[in-house]
Amino acid sequence: MSDGYAVRAEGLQKRYGEKRALDGFDLAVREGTVHGLLGPNGAGKTTAVRILSTLVRLDGGQATVAGLDVARQSREVRARIGLTGQYAAVDEVLTGRQNLEMFGRLFHLGGKRAKLRAAELLAQFDLTDAADKGVGGYSGGMRRRLDLAASMILAPAVLFLDEPTTGLDPRSRGEVWESVRELVASGTTVLLTTQYLEEADKLASHITVIDQGRAIADDTPDGLKNRVGGDRIEVVVAERADIARAVKVVARVSDGEPETDESELRVHAAVADRVTALTDVARTLQDEGVRVEDIGLRRPSLDDVFLRLTGHRTETSQTKEAAA
Ligand SMILES: Nc1ncnc2c1ncn2[C@@H]1O[C@H](COP(=O)(O)OP(=O)(O)OP(=O)(O)O)[C@@H](O)[C@H]1O
Ligand SMILES: [Mg+2]
Repeated sequence: MSDGYAVRAEGLQKRYGEKRALDGFDLAVREGTVHGLLGPNGAGKTTAVRILSTLVRLDGGQATVAGLDVARQSREVRARIGLTGQYAAVDEVLTGRQNLEMFGRLFHLGGKRAKLRAAELLAQFDLTDAADKGVGGYSGGMRRRLDLAASMILAPAVLFLDEPTTGLDPRSRGEVWESVRELVASGTTVLLTTQYLEEADKLASHITVIDQGRAIADDTPDGLKNRVGGDRIEVVVAERADIARAVKVVARVSDGEPETDESELRVHAAVADRVTALTDVARTLQDEGVRVEDIGLRRPSLDDVFLRLTGHRTETSQTKEAAA
């Protein structure tokens, strides 16, 4: 039954009124991997996850999870998956342990096995010390880890994680990443949605980029980053009159044409050798007497991926710019 893929979706369609949340969405997730589903707000990530986890019906196309048809075998699919939603499902009043024991009983584990499984999961997700404290006092990262643990009660074959680290501080984010890596090492396949290229890059062996309900790219993290052009150098000049000169200087060290944000007096471009590029550009600008407000290197963002793949920025960043 298994063809090496834990998830396969072809031509998925989902409409909400006039809105096409999914519009011919394709996906193939290899067994035993973390697969990243990367896209901006409203791209259709949660809709895809909800269809694949049988929570909503598809309007067209077909999908299998663990070799089972999500529309015709939804009950069997449900027995093999775990789901952590975009918003935490744990109860604030209960302790971490009580939450997990409750989920265990919900899955008909029986009191004894539910207790045992809760203890195992608390250890696996590094929550043993906090196990008997109320969840209301947990940090964001601890709460997400408890959420992950809750979705792992039955050790599912496929786990759907919908933006597991959105809103977390960098340290908590790192903790959740560590937990996801452990899950996959124990044999679970993970489909993880995210708005962060960095997160998909760190965790996933394959990334599907989704925009307006369609997959617009499907690649390895390195393949995707190569298309985007890797690290970027960014220069903000003090005077508008200097933008053209800054473009010339940056162009000498960059792969491809530099881009400019006139309104922010910003020039940026992809560079191969980041440190050399930075020192070169800083020195040359100084020699030429260009006043620099800011200069630095940064990793490519989801926005860079979008600009490259679609020719437009993500809507979120457009809104931010319009508001600025
Ligand atoms: N229940 C619903 N009723 C009406 N429209 C919906 C519903 N669910 C989603 N949509 C719309 O479908 C599109 C895709 O939404 P979805 O929640 O799948 O995006 P997303 O990629 O998960 O976004 P986010 O990053 O903000 O979570 C959006 O335009 C959204 O407004
Ligand atoms: Mg969502």
